[in-house]
Parts: sequence; C-alpha cells; structure tokens
Amino acid sequence: MNNEKILELQNVSYWYNSSKRILDNINLNFCTGKIYAITGASGSGKTTLMSLLGGLDMPREGSILYRGSNINKIGYEKYRKECVSFVFQNYNLINYMTSLENVMLTAKSSPLPFLQEVGISEDEAKRNVLKLSGGQQQRVAIARAIAAETPIILADEPTGNLDEKTSNEIVHLLCEQAHKKSKCVIVVTHSNSIAATADQTYEIIDGAIKSVE
Ligand SMILES: Nc1ncnc2c1ncn2[C@@H]1O[C@H](COP(=O)(O)OP(=O)(O)O)[C@@H](O)[C@H]1O
Ligand SMILES: [Mg+2]
Repeated sequence: MNNEKILELQNVSYWYNSSKRILDNINLNFCTGKIYAITGASGSGKTTLMSLLGGLDMPREGSILYRGSNINKIGYEKYRKECVSFVFQNYNLINYMTSLENVMLTAKSSPLPFLQEVGISEDEAKRNVLKLSGGQQQRVAIARAIAAETPIILADEPTGNLDEKTSNEIVHLLCEQAHKKSKCVIVVTHSNSIAATADQTYEIIDGAIKSVE
C-alpha cells in the first residue's frame, strides 16, 4: 500500500469575523491509502477544517500543500475539480434526478459501475433518489465522489442521519476507498466506533489538533 503524503498543513490558522481563532497554528499531514477520523465537540472547528482541506476557503495564516504545492499556486478551482470530492451528512444529491444522473454529473466514464461498486442495483440506479432510503442515498453520494476520481474524499458527518448498522456499512465503503483504492479519506464524526475504525484519529480542542490513541 503506497502511503504518499498528499496534504500538508503548515502553521494553519483560521478565524471568522471575530478574533477568536477557530484553528490555531495547525501542523498536520494526510497520506493516501489511509482513512482519518476528525472528532471534536460541536463548534470546535471540524467543518471549518474540512472547508480549508476542500479548497472552499483559504487559511488566514499558514499554507496547505497538495503533493508539495500550495493550493493557491495550483488554483482553488482546479484543486476543487481535480483533487477533492465531498460527502455530506444530508447527502446533497439533486432530488429531481435519478442516481445514475447524479453520478453522471461527476463521472468521466459510465456511471453504473460506480453505483454497483457501492451496492446500488441497476434498478435502484434508475430510480429518483428520493425513492431511496437514507443509507442508499449516502451510497449514491459516495458513488458520485468515487466517480469524480479524485485522490481525496472529504466526508463531513456522513453517518449523522443513519442508524448504526447502515453507518457501519457506509464506513466500510469509505475504508475500502482508502485501503483498496489508495485514496486519502478524511471523515468528520461523532461516532466512537468510526473513530476506532480509522487508521488515525484527531481531535480538535481549543483550536489545536491532537492525535487520539
Ligand atoms: N460563516 C461563519 N461565520 C462566523 N462564524 C462561523 C461561521 N461558520 C462557523 N462559525 C463558527 O465557528 C466555529 C466552528 O464552526 P464549525 O467549523 O462549523 O464547527 P463544527 O463543525 O466542529 O461543529 C463555531 O463557533 C461556529 O459558530
Ligand atoms: Mg460541522
């Protein structure tokens, strides 16, 4: 398994309009082939960190390097398009479309194999996404992320709306992307069992990030 350093945060700080530092001088590396869990109390800055990792926002101080190059050198638009995919708690599928059509939005090749890879049948793939269960909708969202063929998948509380059994299935799919497809998968979670499944867990406390054993 290749574990290449793909993302590096160097002295990253972030704050919103108030002067309170949500993230304070963070230094952190992420590798391909691994799944990471990010934990922390509500409001601790998990989603803020994901926005920075996803190139949706820029650090106030410090740098984020993708394979050694600052994202601002690569260009935020190019980085978002080619390097990262998102999976959200609320799935964020386009509701008036089928699963196939949702995955087609990112796929460079036929979308069906990506849906089958996450356990969606051909019949389900042709169905409007609102006619699927929450777990199935999240599978479609993961298929959409896989279809984009980006090396990084960012998932912000992907199992927040799901029961325990379904959550475990979703986490298993994300683990497979890391371990079998050599992606870098970063998952924000409140679930101790997900955190325990990850290769490495970090907790955000008072703007700092600590490795959890
Ligand atoms: N757009 C924003 N403007 C101002 N403050 C924000 C904004 N987004 C989040 N915050 C604040 O930043 C802190 C961290 O938020 P967030 O990263 O969403 O935390 P988490 O995902 O860990 O719950 C919270 O106190 C939140 O209220
Ligand atoms: Mg959040």
